[in-house]
Amino acid sequence: MRVVIQENYEKVSLWAAHYIADKINNHKEDRPFVLGLPTGSSPIGVYKELIRMNKAGEVSFANVVTFNMDEYIGLPKEHDQSYWYFMHDNFFNHLVDMKPENINILNGMAEDPEAECARYEEKIASYGGIDLFMGGIGVDGHLAFNEPYTSLTSRTGVRILTTDTRIVNSRFFGNDPEKVPAKAVSVGIGTVTDSKEVLVLISGHNKARALQATVEGGVSQKWTCSALQMHNGAIIVCDEPACGELMVDTYKYFLDIEKNERL
Ligand code: GLP
Repeated sequence: MRVVIQENYEKVSLWAAHYIADKINNHKEDRPFVLGLPTGSSPIGVYKELIRMNKAGEVSFANVVTFNMDEYIGLPKEHDQSYWYFMHDNFFNHLVDMKPENINILNGMAEDPEAECARYEEKIASYGGIDLFMGGIGVDGHLAFNEPYTSLTSRTGVRILTTDTRIVNSRFFGNDPEKVPAKAVSVGIGTVTDSKEVLVLISGHNKARALQATVEGGVSQKWTCSALQMHNGAIIVCDEPACGELMVDTYKYFLDIEKNERL
């Protein structure tokens, strides 16, 4: 696992955006570059920088197909808290060459959510899998909506949100956890770890325990993000405040190897 420690959120965002743009620009295969994307506050800075680069002609999305991680069940796409709305508002609507038909987001209003999830997995497979999945994590270490004790081999399916997650996400629902949908459709941990590369953004003090569990803890379904330890192409990009629970040795180790990476 690679852990890239940056000073703050802005630098995390710039590092990740440039990493992704480089991957897209260096993709020389005939098939499109397949990019997995998250919602939340963590990726907003990355989206802003990718939009800037796209408008400046530094990266094109014309040959990029995207798959989002998750969606609330029961929110129509026009709802301002649906992840469909979030992605269009914060990213897709601002790109100059993203093709709408290349955007894939789970439908939280599907009559048969399990069938919708099976269709999603098939569609990912039809492109030959995901090249790079960007993610964020919850304070309890959830990756997409894979809450603690979700199987580390799980596939796309229906998820029940924990009370903790509904409380954390209630900031977008008038601070009322009851207004946060209780269920979601989400890619599985296995879906994410099947990707060639997984890049996870972790910023802020409130994510320090989750970062520690991801990097230093054992691989455990209690912290679903810890599955990344078994992935050969996992990169964590984190800021200084998120490193608060790491051992000094761990912190120095990763600074050291990243410094040598640049030599
Ligand atoms: C939600 C999403 C996750 C996201 C997490 C953290 O629960 N389902 O995909 O990673 O929130 O969000 P934030 O980046 O706002 O801390």
